[in-house]
Amino acid sequence: MKRAALVIASLALAACTADVYTPRPKLEPHPLDPTNPENPAAPGVKKVTIPIADARAQVPAAEALAFARSVAPMLVGRALTPAERSELDAGGAVALRTMLERWVEEPAFAETARDFISVKLKASGASANLDGSLPGNLAAYLVKNKRPHAELITSPVCRDRMGTAIACDSGAPFGAGVLTTRVFLANNAGRFNLKRARTVLMTFACSDYPLTQALQPSLQRAQLIELFQNDKPPDGTSGAFGNGHACYTCHSQFGAHAQPFVKFDSDGRWQADATGLQLPGGEQGRSTGKLFTSHMADEAAAKSEASQYFGQPVADLAGEAKVLSEHPLYLECAVRSVFGYVLSLSGSEANALPYDVISEIVSEAKSREPEPSFARLVVEAFSHPSVVAAKRSP
Ligand code: HEC
Repeated sequence: MKRAALVIASLALAACTADVYTPRPKLEPHPLDPTNPENPAAPGVKKVTIPIADARAQVPAAEALAFARSVAPMLVGRALTPAERSELDAGGAVALRTMLERWVEEPAFAETARDFISVKLKASGASANLDGSLPGNLAAYLVKNKRPHAELITSPVCRDRMGTAIACDSGAPFGAGVLTTRVFLANNAGRFNLKRARTVLMTFACSDYPLTQALQPSLQRAQLIELFQNDKPPDGTSGAFGNGHACYTCHSQFGAHAQPFVKFDSDGRWQADATGLQLPGGEQGRSTGKLFTSHMADEAAAKSEASQYFGQPVADLAGEAKVLSEHPLYLECAVRSVFGYVLSLSGSEANALPYDVISEIVSEAKSREPEPSFARLVVEAFSHPSVVAAKRSP
């Protein structure tokens, strides 16, 4: 299958060359940005900003056709039809946007959503122990039923292959969409629940530790077990774990995000009587049975699923998912991820896509659907003029 690789540099360039499209509005212009008209060092420099629809109309039809041809197989599992080629020849990127609106109604697009999330979460097929189809089933259901993309992690129920509501299989008394599937929980099981916390952050917020304090205020040192209280391990060496230093810097944020996983064992089953306490004599980070240790020093805090996420108090994993799904990073990350999937970008290439373009795609989507569906994000993403016109390798 022929796939397009986006040349990031040219995308960035398209976003700042005056005669091509310049995204608007730029959030919080940096005072020293030479293109910021309020910058005293740049008198008279005006940022050229034209409406997105006008910019779309200016994309040469040949570029829109080439782009559509390269993304159709990934989005709808087929090549362009002759009729679609003529439409694009005549109508360029404006026609492409209308075409995308139709593509997301095709049954193949729901299968794209199923494959996308299955690949992202490394979940597919079913083994004797784990049903790997649950995340993909939910994604396909949400697309077919035009549900908000947020429900991928906030849905209280999972879906079978036919789309019928079923309990997610972790046995927890709440549901948080794909996060409460055993395939996600078991695939990401690890000591102190760190891998689960980090996978959530990287997959759904496209971020990694350490985070800024504005995004995730650190827990207090005294709240944490000794291992994570200091920036050097307690024995003063560089330590056997992690990065060898600054333990507190990362793990004071990590600890908050890992806590709502404290009752999920390594098979992804929710255990009401989990304590979160270190198993005496056991490997560091392991609690009783198949459970993992909390970062919290206090016994009551260690066994509680309550924590905070991005500074907001949460009662459990469903609360964590809700806060995450309502943060701007969630939809921005969904857009980055779908570009990464369809255009074969690495995670770091997808995360380096210009913020202005990504945030403009999200605001276009939100202006049409306050809680955008995956389909809505895809329509706005793959018809954004800077993306359609970006240079691609053959
Ligand atoms: C840059 C952030 C960062 C710093 C600094 C850091 N860690 Fe970590 N730590 C991580 C990440 C990321 C993981 C892995 C999560 C995963 O499995 O994906 C991790 C995992 C761990 C684990 C679990 C290992 C396992 O096998 O699952 C322990 C224990 C740990 N760190 C302790 C420490 C200690 C002690 C320090 C200081 C000496 C430290 N970390 C410093 C980010 C950090």
